[in-house]
Amino acid sequence: MAEAITIALAKGRLAEQTMELMESMGMDVSPLREKSRKLVFESADGKYRYIMVKPSDVPTYVDHGVADVGVVGKDTLMEENRPLYEMLDLGFGACRICVCGYAEQEPLKKAHIRVATKYTGIASQVFLSRLSSIEIIKLNGSVELGPIIGLSDVILDIVESGATLRANGLAVLEEICTCSARLVVNRVSLKTKEARIRPLIDGLRAEIEKRRDGK
Ligand code: PRP
Repeated sequence: MAEAITIALAKGRLAEQTMELMESMGMDVSPLREKSRKLVFESADGKYRYIMVKPSDVPTYVDHGVADVGVVGKDTLMEENRPLYEMLDLGFGACRICVCGYAEQEPLKKAHIRVATKYTGIASQVFLSRLSSIEIIKLNGSVELGPIIGLSDVILDIVESGATLRANGLAVLEEICTCSARLVVNRVSLKTKEARIRPLIDGLRAEIEKRRDGK
């Protein structure tokens, strides 16, 4: 049998919906649901090998070709900025990348703005051409604490339901873009393993279209 296609999945908010989508097109993801400390999982039919990794590592694995395919948020793809083929918008995990803060303080009018974020690359791009001088402070989570505790004037982060902002009295000051989960493919794998990767892409696309049409 041909070597398995290796798929890197992002742990966290996209994981469950990714597994559901794959299951609905008949892929065996059951090994991923077993509670264990294993890091590599194989489908019973031997067609797929899955790794479940931190979202920011998905583009790294796919870029290096050790994973042929990956599922990850557009926010992470923008931040990591790797030369991958982005093949499909999977339609779930919708969120917005926003600059947020205390609206009444009008922090974006300040001459020097401190931005706390997990997305330092995106933040540099966003604020690059602005007049204010900028300081980007890298955080790895609970970014909303930045303005609350006085570490930063604003944050640049993803907003999904808006619940975290509301619970902390913060507001969206500026929307940068919308994001959702994407299917990415290694550039070489798409050529060398096309006969096995194309049906995967086509199957996922058909499933997404079915969902969109409410079938
Ligand atoms: C993300 C993001 C926001 C929150 C937005 O954090 O960084 O904090 O979710 O979602 P909401 O608009 O639905 O409230 P995540 O839950 O991934 O945890 P983290 O703070 O550890 O990064």
